[in-house]
Amino acid sequence: MNKKDTPTLIFVALALFVALGIGSSFFGSEKVPDGTVPLKPPVIGGPFELVDHTSRTVTDKDFHSKYLLIYFGYIYCPDVCSTAVITISDALDILGPDMANKITPVFVSVDHERDTPESLREYVGQFSPRFVGMTGTKKQISQVAKAYNVYFAKSEEPGGNAENYFMDHSAITYLMGPDGKFIRHFPYGIDPKNMADQIKKILG
Ligand code: NI
Repeated sequence: MNKKDTPTLIFVALALFVALGIGSSFFGSEKVPDGTVPLKPPVIGGPFELVDHTSRTVTDKDFHSKYLLIYFGYIYCPDVCSTAVITISDALDILGPDMANKITPVFVSVDHERDTPESLREYVGQFSPRFVGMTGTKKQISQVAKAYNVYFAKSEEPGGNAENYFMDHSAITYLMGPDGKFIRHFPYGIDPKNMADQIKKILG
């Protein structure tokens, strides 16, 4: 092909992309009646109801006065989750108490079968007294995971028993504003100092 054909090819590819409906699933948006697809990024966050590590029922509104650092995982996770929770704790320590007091770090369990409020209390307590651990019914956890665009699934070990399983899950930390709106995410493996620096820029 020559250079002149390139814009035509791009147009055809885009038209196919949209026509095949790949566009709508890729961008997570709905097709509007006239057939056009708004290029809208997925909305992160929204209403939820869960049970915290003191067995209290909590909703998203209970967290609206502060920034939220929210991570989804499970207690029996071999190492990924504890690393993520330590990163958040360390970042808050680096920020110092004045700034850290404006942020609630939250660990949401994706393992409703094993992670009880009592076991979450013990788990988060190991890392930082600031952490709120949350769990819920299968339905409650599915709803909050969907709102935050978090993937999770039970992964049975071959030869394992019903009690002995892993959970596959997204390992992203989200920073939400006091208005409940998404600000940014932090990838797994980020250095705590880097996380603290980014948060400092946002909180001023
Ligand atoms: Ni994990």
